[in-house]
Amino acid sequence: MTRAPFHLVARFFDVALSKPLDSTERAAIARWLDPDLFELFREQPTADQRHAYRGALHVVAAGRADLAPAVLLHDIGKRHSGLGVFGRVAATLAEQMGIRGGNSFRIHRNHGPIGADELANRDTDDIVVDFARFHTAERPDSIDPESWDLLRAADTPPKTRALLSGR
Ligand SMILES: [Fe+2]
Repeated sequence: MTRAPFHLVARFFDVALSKPLDSTERAAIARWLDPDLFELFREQPTADQRHAYRGALHVVAAGRADLAPAVLLHDIGKRHSGLGVFGRVAATLAEQMGIRGGNSFRIHRNHGPIGADELANRDTDDIVVDFARFHTAERPDSIDPESWDLLRAADTPPKTRALLSGR
């Protein structure tokens, strides 16, 4: 299997199999986010909450709990697309094929800047805004390489990779 189809399959299972966060997990997030940002976090679909929470655990385990808010909120722009499981996979496939698609696909494609603009209007650290804006692009000068590498590593779907490899 080439990388692109594998990634799509991984994304499909990541979205389709995500479980809602339980009370213990939500309590952990409440320690990393101010109340208004926690409410924003909870506006995300279950799969995005689960993905973000898993990423937060990654940076916290690396001793960088200060990066947890950036991980937890980096995909908040995606919720505006209104796309479900199949729609998200289709949007990713369309993007890889150079197909622009409709408004939902445009929002999905631009979810980084859309979410960053939203965060910039709130009381957040610069790195939260900048990681949301640039997490699908190149590292901005405002984020140091060490933090960037850790943030990018947190933005991966390890559950599905483990699932698909039989672990
Ligand atoms: Fe992400």
